[in-house]
Amino acid sequence: MAKSPHIKLGFILHGVGRTWNDWRHPDRDNSASTSLARYQEQAAIAERGKFDFLFVADSLSITEKSSPHYLNRFEPITILSALAATTSRIGLVGTLTVSYSEPFNVARQFASLDHLSGGRAGWNIVTSWLGDTAANFSKTEHPPHAVRYRIAAEYLDVVQGLWDSWEDGAHVADKETGQFVDPDLLHRLDHKGEFFQVRGPLNIKRTPQGQPVIFQAGASEDGRNFASQRAEVIFTHAATPSEGQAYYSDVKARAKGFGRDPDQLFILPGIAPIVGDTDEDAEARYRELAALESIDTGLGFLSRTFNDHDFRQYDLDAPFPDVLHIGLNSQQSATLRILAEVEAENLTLRQVAERLATPRGAFVGSPERVADQLQLWFETGVADGFVLFEPLPGQLALFVDRVIPILQARGLFRTDYEGETFRSHLGLPEPENRYAAQQREKSAA
Ligand SMILES: Cc1cc2nc3c(=O)[nH]c(=O)nc-3n(C[C@H](O)[C@H](O)[C@H](O)COP(=O)(O)O)c2cc1C
Repeated sequence: MAKSPHIKLGFILHGVGRTWNDWRHPDRDNSASTSLARYQEQAAIAERGKFDFLFVADSLSITEKSSPHYLNRFEPITILSALAATTSRIGLVGTLTVSYSEPFNVARQFASLDHLSGGRAGWNIVTSWLGDTAANFSKTEHPPHAVRYRIAAEYLDVVQGLWDSWEDGAHVADKETGQFVDPDLLHRLDHKGEFFQVRGPLNIKRTPQGQPVIFQAGASEDGRNFASQRAEVIFTHAATPSEGQAYYSDVKARAKGFGRDPDQLFILPGIAPIVGDTDEDAEARYRELAALESIDTGLGFLSRTFNDHDFRQYDLDAPFPDVLHIGLNSQQSATLRILAEVEAENLTLRQVAERLATPRGAFVGSPERVADQLQLWFETGVADGFVLFEPLPGQLALFVDRVIPILQARGLFRTDYEGETFRSHLGLPEPENRYAAQQREKSAA
């Protein structure tokens, strides 16, 4: 497969917003997190813009200090199923953790979503970094980072195995003969592994996409290996083009090393564009956003990244505290990035928190400037596309109405959906059913 000439775009449905104070913006609906109407409205705008997919993130542990978006959120499959009914083309991607769920249930849930949506489901596999999650799932211990990725690999084997339970055509449903299924086309998995024992088969037939699309966001050593071997779309953070380029070339090289076509793996940094009529207008909107934030937001992001560790206990102007051991078992790559900056620039806690509170990013400006930046990142080996946060109310519509037409005029974005399924938007082939493949190979031999 050749590299797609088109930028891939996803939109993150974020309820009241991403930070601790986004909800306080005068134009923000502060009941948005559990408002079906708001979700439908945003989904419709993104679909009008021909976005590849909508994304619903998730986590399973809160404290009273968690951000408003964490404190009150829909369960992803539930809201995506509701959106399947009011959208027709856009992909529907949700997070579900492998550390606190069962593969059989998850295989069913995403297979159901794929059927409900006519082939538009995607699963973002996460391993969960918040240790307190264990206490919500009758567990005494949160698995260590490396174990979580081992669980993830086996978990995905099981889910994908279950998705192949039924070959195409297995549901005969012949009223004349009374035959409902063809037993030769139905397969048990009989998986017995380190973490899971699952017999199968799955109790829902093969889905319109064959299998839902696999997303991941691994950024540590273990995470990169898992993502580059197994994911079809990878989310990442890239503060600068050079940081993004390093990640992009590393992960694509790993994918090649695993015998994969690197062009069938899409790397999408998360970005928060702020579009204005002019560069000055966009700057003013950014300042409006920054004015809502305080050092507390930065401390909140730090706390969340380091497994809900309380950074408010430290002197803001003393050297940054020694928290490496916490970071390694949490969101490992993000914590190591922060600690590397601390060391390189000798930063205090206050300086780190200020940077995290109001990150500006590279995508603030007129529609032309934002389109130029997207094009630059796309054409210089930083990204295959982007997943967008909406930092200010109204920005999604502005992006759709002002930036996308520029990308389309430059031949960098689709003018209509390529097909019916999410895989068809991405140009990804439908995975062949493993039992059908075995049969084909046997017949050829
Ligand atoms: C755009 C984006 C979206 C993410 N969404 C989620 C999510 O919904 N739930 C979650 O637990 N982690 C989410 N993550 C974090 C990753 O699951 C992971 O913890 C992080 O990338 C660090 O990976 P590492 O442990 O390999 O360093 C997301 C990351 C990115 C870049």
